[in-house]
Amino acid sequence: MKRKTLTVGSLISKNRQMIPSEEIPKEIDVQPASIRLRQNQSYFEVVPRPHQTLLDAALEQKQFIDFKCRKGTCGRCKVRVTEGASLLHPPHEKERIKLQHSLAQEYRLACQAMIR
Ligand code: FES
Repeated sequence: MKRKTLTVGSLISKNRQMIPSEEIPKEIDVQPASIRLRQNQSYFEVVPRPHQTLLDAALEQKQFIDFKCRKGTCGRCKVRVTEGASLLHPPHEKERIKLQHSLAQEYRLACQAMIR
């Protein structure tokens, strides 16, 4: 998806007239540039790499999230996504079942969470 950055200058046409309000997009898709997460007392920042798991992207970027099985069964890779959750696909059924006891929705299994 191509993002459009709006500035005050971009809302003014070349002949210095304001663009009519009906031509201004109502919703602007602002995606965070990175995924921030927390595991235990550690904080991590991962640059999203499409079609990778959050764990694989993190490890590739030397963000050493704790993990064990990589299958979605042990739960050791559980992280709390504090920013950029929209950059991840929604959890699949196996991940949802494993996380059902987590109180907050922002918890994910890094080995199962796929980046969009
Ligand atoms: S490493 Fe075991 S659930 Fe992710």
